[in-house]
Amino acid sequence: MKILGIESSCDETAAAIIKNGNTILSNVIISQIDIHASYGGVIPEIAARSHIEVINPIINQALSQANLVIQDVDAIAVTHTPGLVGSLLIGTLAARTLAIINNIPFYPVHHLKSHIYANWISGHQPEFPLIAAVISGGHTQIIYMNRHDHFEIIGTTRDDAIGECFDKIAKILGLPYPGGPAIAKAAEKGNSTRYQLPIPKVNGLDFSFSGLKTAVLRAVQKELNLPITTPSYELQKHLSEQQITDFAASFQATAVKIIIQKLKKATQKYPVRSILLAGGVSANQLLREELQKNFAENYQAFYPQPNLSTDNGAMVASAAYYSIQAGEKPSDPYELDISPRSTIK
Ligand code: KG4
Ligand code: ZN
Repeated sequence: MKILGIESSCDETAAAIIKNGNTILSNVIISQIDIHASYGGVIPEIAARSHIEVINPIINQALSQANLVIQDVDAIAVTHTPGLVGSLLIGTLAARTLAIINNIPFYPVHHLKSHIYANWISGHQPEFPLIAAVISGGHTQIIYMNRHDHFEIIGTTRDDAIGECFDKIAKILGLPYPGGPAIAKAAEKGNSTRYQLPIPKVNGLDFSFSGLKTAVLRAVQKELNLPITTPSYELQKHLSEQQITDFAASFQATAVKIIIQKLKKATQKYPVRSILLAGGVSANQLLREELQKNFAENYQAFYPQPNLSTDNGAMVASAAYYSIQAGEKPSDPYELDISPRSTIK
């Protein structure tokens, strides 16, 4: 079964063809990072306009790289929630139109589901039951799965997402957008023990990242002997190279520790066979190493290939495949709703 997966929920326009759930025939991604970097974050209107320019060429490229024409495709899958409304509209409209005019079965897919299934297209066969840490720019959740296409949220952030925290702290330090890769790179030269940052005290399996963000802000102000009223955008020009790399390393180590601690807690409550990372922050090298160090002995500990951690169309097609195997019926492309927010079901 060949599925065309289309993704446009944020600032990547992407299309891919997946065979039987986990074989990638093509995977085309155009990132808008260069466009948004000069603004320090994603501008929704610009994102939507950029998706319009490239969506059709990208779908055509995904088909031609797989040596297929649209009529060869057995199903079309597209991200319909959550994400930026204007961005979701472009991908879903392209997908619906193709499904209607070619009479191809149509499957809307939840974005977080796709991120989890990025593991199945990365050469892994995770065994159930499992927990997945879905850690991205918009989400931080621990999800329990006892079988395909069945999701139970067992932990979630009460405020900021972890990727958002990386992005905001990068801004304070004067590092470019997106903050995650920039902080990881700066941290390579930094001392992760120089600044002591607090681990948030949140009961159960929930997370909180806004306190950590404020703790970094206060630590930077204190380090520079500046009052706490100093705006965050004023700080970067006073920071030395060494201070930037040490703050990056200290923050990254704390963020990784928070995720690992919660995953350990989750395994005490839920007896699982596999532990997965998913979402943009799962590209983080330190987190990958710590996952292996802490869990590989007793669990299958997996994460997606680096280019499959962040948004792509292949994971959308893979998620749709396993939903179809679990009995999901096609949706009416005339009836599709998009939604900027929604929980995984
Ligand atoms: O999954 P994604 O591409 O988009 C959303 O669904 O949000 O995730 C983007 C997020 C951004 O916040 C980015 O800073 C973060 O993933 N990210 C990283 C790394 N690469 C991307 N965070 C930490 N370390 C990385 N290497
Ligand atoms: Zn994403």
